Amino acid sequence: MAMPRVIAFVWLLLSLLGIACDAQLSSTFYDQTCPTALTTIRTVIRQAVSQERRMAASLIRLHFHDCFVQGCDASILLDDTPSMIGEQNAAPNRNSARGYGVIHKAKTEVEKSCPGVVSCADILAVAARDASFSVGGPSWTVKLGRRDSTTASKTLAESELPHFQESLDRLISIFSNKGLSARDMVALSGSHTIGQAQCFLFRNRIHNQTNIDTGFASTRRRTCPTSGGDEKLAPLDLVTPNSFDNNYFKNLIQKKGLLETDQALFNGGSTDSIVTDYSKNPTAFKSDFATAMIKMGDIEPLTGLEGQIRNICGAVN
Ligand code: HEM
Ligand SMILES: *[C@@H]1O[C@H](CO)[C@@H](O)[C@H](O)[C@H]1NC(C)=O
Repeated sequence: MAMPRVIAFVWLLLSLLGIACDAQLSSTFYDQTCPTALTTIRTVIRQAVSQERRMAASLIRLHFHDCFVQGCDASILLDDTPSMIGEQNAAPNRNSARGYGVIHKAKTEVEKSCPGVVSCADILAVAARDASFSVGGPSWTVKLGRRDSTTASKTLAESELPHFQESLDRLISIFSNKGLSARDMVALSGSHTIGQAQCFLFRNRIHNQTNIDTGFASTRRRTCPTSGGDEKLAPLDLVTPNSFDNNYFKNLIQKKGLLETDQALFNGGSTDSIVTDYSKNPTAFKSDFATAMIKMGDIEPLTGLEGQIRNICGAVN
């Protein structure tokens, strides 16, 4: 064989073994090894969302909180052990992240037909897509082939995930550190068109801030007083909290963002024009959201021989 052919052959072998240096995710990853994986996951997610609409929000957020900490490797699903303090009790997740049970259910169902093949990290990515679609959001082709981590880190979760009072500059830089643009950040924040937040996370906003609609602030203060009721929920999108639409952006223009970081996206800064754009053009928002979710799903995956395919999502094999 001529030299270039030898190189091509070796490369082919390596990629078949999945250990090419820049192993890529691929939407057809399970086509041969577990052709029923995607429909099985979809059935579980649809059922969970039809039981509780908010679950769609919780599942999208779970994928986000996974991907920003060590990459999309299902680290968030690892339970604490005597030797490892994981991410579930990190400040942004404790008493806040939800949907773990639905992911475990999907994993259990997938394991029945293809034991040991489909990673928990991929299940999180597919669940987020199916959750979006199930409440009127966009769908997209999910890239697959992520593997699961053998570690998780409370410290990393607390340093990598955005805090609820970050400035716009900090938000832009936190997302930029993950390869996501300001436009991606605004589009992804648009998932606050669904789901709920707890009083202690927006208390300062509704009692102390001035860039807020006064009627909106007083409505919210009724169930979120200056002290007490820390866990009382309010919808992140006051108009249509159960549908994935662009009302979130319309709210921001009316100074009715619930979190400080929501209103920061439309407060006289560089992202105002993106918010205005999405408030007028729901199609652009949905299309950019899908693109940004695919980019987010690409953050530092474990591939090839890295990590493992966990047998159960809550523990290392
Ligand atoms: C830009 C920085 C972000 C900050 C500071 C932030 C912060 C928050 C906070 C404080 C909550 C409420 C949690 C609670 O009350 O327990 C929340 C909820 C939520 N976040 Fe974000 N978030 C951000 C970006 C994102 C992104 C990028 C996504 C997804 C792609 C996302 C999806 C969600 C969803 C869907 C909910 C509702 C969850 C539910 O109802 O269970 N967020 N976020
Ligand atoms: C309002 O801001 C002050 C000063 O930062 C703070 O001490 C106080 O706790 C805030 N009030 C509420 C209800 O968050």
